[in-house]
Amino acid sequence: MEIYKDPSQPINKRVEDLLKRMTLDEKIGQMCQYSSLTKKIKELVKKGLVGSLLNVTGIDKVNEIQKAAIEDSRLGIPLLLGLDVIHGYKTIFPIPLALASTWDPQVVRKVARIAAREASSEGIKWTFAPMVDIARDPRWGRIAEGAGEDPYLGSVIAWAAVKGFQGDDLSDPDSILACAKHYIAYGGAEGGRDYNTVDVSDRTLREIYLPPFKAAILAGVGTIMSAFNDLNGVPASANEYTLRKILREELGFKGFVVSDWNAIGELINHGIAGDIYDAAREALKAGVDMDMQGDIYRRTLRKLVEEGIIPERLIDDAVKRILEIKFKLGLFENPYANPEKARKIIKCKEHLDFALEAARKSIVLLKNEGVLPLRKDLKTIAVIGPLADDKVAPLGSWYCLGDPKDVITVLEGIRNKVSPKTKVLYAKGCDIECSSKEGFEKAVSIAKQSDVAILVVGERGDMSGEAASRAYLDLPGVQEDLVKAVYETGVPIVVVLMNGRPLSIKWIAEHIPAIVEAWFLGLQTGRAVADVLFGDYNPGGKLPVTFPRTVGQVPIYYNHKNTGRPPDPKNRFTSKYIDEDYKPLFPFGHGLSYTTFSYSDLEVKPRNVEPGDVILISFTLANIGDREGDEVAQLYIRKAVASVTRPVKELKGFVRITLKPREKRRVIFKLPTEQLAFYNREMKFVIEAGTYHVMVGSSSQDIRLVSEFKVTSTKEVSPRTLKFTETIIK
Ligand code: BGC
Repeated sequence: MEIYKDPSQPINKRVEDLLKRMTLDEKIGQMCQYSSLTKKIKELVKKGLVGSLLNVTGIDKVNEIQKAAIEDSRLGIPLLLGLDVIHGYKTIFPIPLALASTWDPQVVRKVARIAAREASSEGIKWTFAPMVDIARDPRWGRIAEGAGEDPYLGSVIAWAAVKGFQGDDLSDPDSILACAKHYIAYGGAEGGRDYNTVDVSDRTLREIYLPPFKAAILAGVGTIMSAFNDLNGVPASANEYTLRKILREELGFKGFVVSDWNAIGELINHGIAGDIYDAAREALKAGVDMDMQGDIYRRTLRKLVEEGIIPERLIDDAVKRILEIKFKLGLFENPYANPEKARKIIKCKEHLDFALEAARKSIVLLKNEGVLPLRKDLKTIAVIGPLADDKVAPLGSWYCLGDPKDVITVLEGIRNKVSPKTKVLYAKGCDIECSSKEGFEKAVSIAKQSDVAILVVGERGDMSGEAASRAYLDLPGVQEDLVKAVYETGVPIVVVLMNGRPLSIKWIAEHIPAIVEAWFLGLQTGRAVADVLFGDYNPGGKLPVTFPRTVGQVPIYYNHKNTGRPPDPKNRFTSKYIDEDYKPLFPFGHGLSYTTFSYSDLEVKPRNVEPGDVILISFTLANIGDREGDEVAQLYIRKAVASVTRPVKELKGFVRITLKPREKRRVIFKLPTEQLAFYNREMKFVIEAGTYHVMVGSSSQDIRLVSEFKVTSTKEVSPRTLKFTETIIK
């Protein structure tokens, strides 16, 4: 048997053996990925000139094309079949921003695991997830696909997602290959306009945008996607500094880089390449190993090698990395979908139950002045709004192979929940985006007959995600007017929001007594929302992003700098607005509960530490209400005086914990000093000597306990260092 076909041989030997047998065209073929299965692509597959396909789904189609690659091509190299399995494959979970609101990495990990298991059973072995882009601008629609604004929360979630998709072993039939995207700083698009220019300092790049990628790499992510945007003058898909120096040299990434969709071809539009040959050369030199859909590498690389413009060694390096992953995935041994397994596990009870749990945990109670939870035996309930009975929106963007028919809407959830004697009246009121108020009359009339009105308002699922930037952050169309019209009736109102980004809902926040942030919660939306509305589940999610009062405040995020003139309402010449508050509508980390938590007895030990030490930060967390509930306790630090300006607060630890009524626990955060490292004036990554403030609380603005500690000397640390803050609960 040829060495490369022998599973008992070590992977590096198999790669070497296979590479030796390949022609230049076959090597280049491995670096090409295509989306549609046209006749031409099928021919290329049979000739062994395609490495990967995306968006080819369905067991028969997948197995057929895989068979062509294996049986018809000269060397029989299996295809790597990829798909955007973002928040579920067929069992659809909450969108990533909602999952981040759980502040529970175990949930994120299990969601990814289930998605991987389902996808892999149907022959999909690669997902273009997790998206780990930090987003500080809610105009950018892709904020929905990530974990929000914070590099620490984002890193913990990136780690969990990669572990979930890839498992402990890529060759496990339940595992699929993950892809951390979009490298890098794609979320920094100017004006929040998708694909737009990004211009950020090296410090912001490394301290804000890079950490979640670092976490993904240290979790073992097999692939990275190079982004569409240009960064400080060089497109991310042709950027040697970020793709070779930072990614490979500094962070030690060993997997392969795939371009985003035709990002190599787009180097021409960026204006750094005159034609496809320039584009291919720039991308390959920078370290892009696979060309997604562009068909640029296939058309150019042979000529570029023959003319001596690029050394064949660069191609060999890329192909080795791709083959290595194919071997690691066990594709040579197990290339096909498994219909029997698929039938058994896809949308099975275990998966659907977990979709419910994830959905409940994702919900954030933004405001509650005595209205929630509702009684199940109310006489009449009005359910109003364009999203109340919508089966598509709750799937959010990138809902993979999810089926809207499987979605339980909020209206259905409520009907199933209440007592048979309760009348549930429904009126749509208006469309998500329209100018007509014709439906208002019915909405107002059912509200008048009811004990409470539940208004389900927000965005369509496709109003966030890719190419879904918004210039306004208000509720679209006439939805706010609908809320106002129902408000005029005087009936108590609960607003349930469905949206893929923070919305500026100032009037609602000021006038409506109860607001539930439901994001897009996937298949189990209605059940999860009804559980929360009627108190069968006590909400405990927290915002992973800041809600602005108005779009004019954007970008607005909790970990901002202090400035030389921090806002002072009494002093005009300080950093604020003359026509709007400088504070957010709802801060990062905010989220209420039906019970109340108290924080006490903060202890920080030791008070003086050396770099390399661990600081123990402990306090007592108590549920002082009479319902069981979840609290996310949050740890923030601030270096008051440093060699460079530092954020006013930085999240460095958190834990979601369930407490019974009257129960109290001692929570201990073990903060590694490495978490304090930042880039100093010389751009060295250091733990800097000095005093650090410690803040523990229930949100970034609701700080309950403060203390401090001192680091006694300065020390440089490796940029590869990543130690999360562990939590002990006693
Ligand atoms: C998106 C990526 C996605 C890819 C493949 C691109 O347009 O930016 O996030 O993975 O398409 O579908």
